[in-house]
Amino acid sequence: MNKEVRLQKFMADQGVASRRKSEEIILEGRVRVNSKIVKELGSKIIPGVDKVIVDGKSIGGRISYVYLVLNKPKGYLSTTDDPKNRKTVLDLVKDIDQRIYPVGRLDYNTEGLLIMTNDGDLTYAMTHPSKELKKTYHATIDGVLSIEDVAKMRKGVDIGDYVTAPAEVYILEENADGSVIELIIHEGKYRQVRRMFEALGFDVKRLVRTQIGNITKKGIPRGKYRHLKKTEVKVLKGQNKRKERGGKHGKR
Ligand code: URA
Repeated sequence: MNKEVRLQKFMADQGVASRRKSEEIILEGRVRVNSKIVKELGSKIIPGVDKVIVDGKSIGGRISYVYLVLNKPKGYLSTTDDPKNRKTVLDLVKDIDQRIYPVGRLDYNTEGLLIMTNDGDLTYAMTHPSKELKKTYHATIDGVLSIEDVAKMRKGVDIGDYVTAPAEVYILEENADGSVIELIIHEGKYRQVRRMFEALGFDVKRLVRTQIGNITKKGIPRGKYRHLKKTEVKVLKGQNKRKERGGKHGKR
């Protein structure tokens, strides 16, 4: 007999959307279970027994999971649809049949590594704050960090509504126009990296995510993707703790 699962987990597993987005879809009254609209987030269903319909489409066939690592160019939204019809990352993966979505987000003008999948378990494993998965960014800024600025970033920066956790900071380049800084953080607050530099008085001219956990964007041309290997998915899911944390330099 199949086990009961929460409706939003089932939807995420079937590639409808992330768990959080699936919750919104449920609250919006777009989901029917056995022809009754279900709006309660605690609802459970039995896969293979209960019939689940989202926006009039039946879901619940067996799904094949897809795991992509995309090198996102600037000028693409990391959402699956845009009311204003701007380009989204889905435009870059048109040859994939499954309904995939990005894990977390990058700003419209941020470039670099974005994982896309239809596996709700991976999304959960990567976005739950308790996982503290490291994310590495290269930020080109319009100035040079002082020793005090670096110390502040390593301690935590007040970005208005939040004080960030200690970050790892490395200066990669410095010249008359500015500098390139490698920042490694494990949080994902809205526009966090840009706001951290803004709080110190710098403007971010270019922002590229180069690494998440054990995954880098090395060898992937801008706008292209590759499939993750099974072992990489395992590590990201935390089934191989030793390799999970990532970060090129290790801890200082
Ligand atoms: N921090 C930002 O400021 N922007 C991103 O896209 C990701 C992290």
